Amino acid sequence: MKTRTLGNDLTVSAVGLGCMGFSHAYGKPTDRSEAIKLIRHAADSGYTFFDTAEIYGSAADPHQNEELVGEALRGCRDKVVIATKFGIRFDMSSPAVNKPLIPDSRPDVIRASVEGSLKRLGTDHIDLYYQHRPDPDVPIEEVAGVMSDLIREGKITHWGLSESGAELIRRAHSVCPVTAIQNRYSMMARQYETLFPLLEELHIGFVAFSPLANGYLTTKYGKGFQFDRQYDYRSAMPQFSDEAQEKNRALIDLLTKNAQEKGVTPAQISLAWVMGKRPYIVPIPGTRTPERMQENAASADIVLTAQEISAIDSALEQMEMSEVFGGSKITKQK
Ligand SMILES: NC(=O)c1ccc[n+]([C@@H]2O[C@H](COP(=O)([O-])OP(=O)(O)OC[C@H]3O[C@@H](n4cnc5c(N)ncnc54)[C@H](OP(=O)(O)O)[C@@H]3O)[C@@H](O)[C@H]2O)c1
Repeated sequence: MKTRTLGNDLTVSAVGLGCMGFSHAYGKPTDRSEAIKLIRHAADSGYTFFDTAEIYGSAADPHQNEELVGEALRGCRDKVVIATKFGIRFDMSSPAVNKPLIPDSRPDVIRASVEGSLKRLGTDHIDLYYQHRPDPDVPIEEVAGVMSDLIREGKITHWGLSESGAELIRRAHSVCPVTAIQNRYSMMARQYETLFPLLEELHIGFVAFSPLANGYLTTKYGKGFQFDRQYDYRSAMPQFSDEAQEKNRALIDLLTKNAQEKGVTPAQISLAWVMGKRPYIVPIPGTRTPERMQENAASADIVLTAQEISAIDSALEQMEMSEVFGGSKITKQK
C-alpha cells in the first residue's frame, strides 16, 4: 500500500486499520481467533498502521483490544506502527449503550496506563501514544511533560491528541512536539477542517477516525437496518435513524453516483475523499471482515482530482444532511 508520513518521520500505510470494532461499540466482541486472523491478514495485505486504545473492550474484558492487537502483530512488530490511547475510562454506572467518558490525564494515571498498554501489547515501546480526550483538570503542558519523559525513557516514540482543538494542540506542541492528532473526520463531520492551517504550520499529521461516519457512508445500512440495542452504539446514532434516511437522500445519491463513475464502491469514494483533502491525512476505517478490509485498503489507489474534490465539497455544503454521531458524552467525575 502507498504510505504517508505523520509529523516529521512516522511513516504509515495510507489507510490504517481501526481495531476498536473487534472488541467494542459495534456489537458483541468478535471471536478472538477470528480477530487475530484478520489483523494478521491486514498486515500481510499492506496495512502497517494499527489503531487501538486502553479502553477498547467490554465489561467482561475491558482491555481486550490491546491484547488482540499485540498478539496478532507479535511476529511483525518491527514492521508496523501501533497507536494506542490513554486518558479516559467509561462511566460503567450509566445504563446507556453508549457509556459516558470520564477524562483522567493525571500524570500517575498516565504512568500506570502506559505500563498496562505495553504489557498487553507485548512490546517495549508504543509508536504513537494519544491522549484520548482533553482533561479539563490537568493542564495540557503537564500531560506533554509526561510525554517528553516517556519518550526519553523509550516507552513511546511519538505522541498525539484526540478530539482536541487548536489552542490545546499549540500549547501541547510547544512543550513536546506532537506527531499527529486523531479526530473525527468524514463527509458528514467536517468541523476539524479549520485545523488544517495549524497542522500545516506545525507539521502535524491528521489521523481521521470514523472516516465512514461509523459505516453510514458505505450506503450499506439503509432504512430499517436493526442494530443490537445492548451492544451496538449505532442503535443510538442519529445518522442511522429512519428519519435520517430521508434527509440523507442527496448524500447517498452523491456517493453512489461518484462510485459508479469511477467503478469503485461508496466506501472507497469516502476514503479517497478523506485522503484527497490533504496529503497528511490518514483514515483508519474499522472493519471485521476480510473483504471490506481489502476494499478499504484499495481506496489508497483511488485518486480524486482537485476538481472532483471541490465538486464533492460544494455538493456537501449545499445539501440537507442528518445529524451524525459526535462522540460519547464526557462526564467530569474522577
Ligand atoms: N479517537 C477516538 O476517540 C476514536 C473514536 C472512534 C473510533 N476511533 C478509531 O477509529 C476507527 C474507525 O472508526 P469507526 O470504527 O468508529 O468508524 P468507521 O471506520 O467510520 O466505520 C466502521 C463501520 O463501518 C463498517 N465498514 C467498514 N468498512 C466497510 C465497507 N467497506 N463496507 C461496508 N461497511 C464497512 C464496519 O462494519 P464491519 O465491521 O461489519 O465491516 C464498521 O461497523 C476505530 O476502529 C478506532 O480505532 C477512535
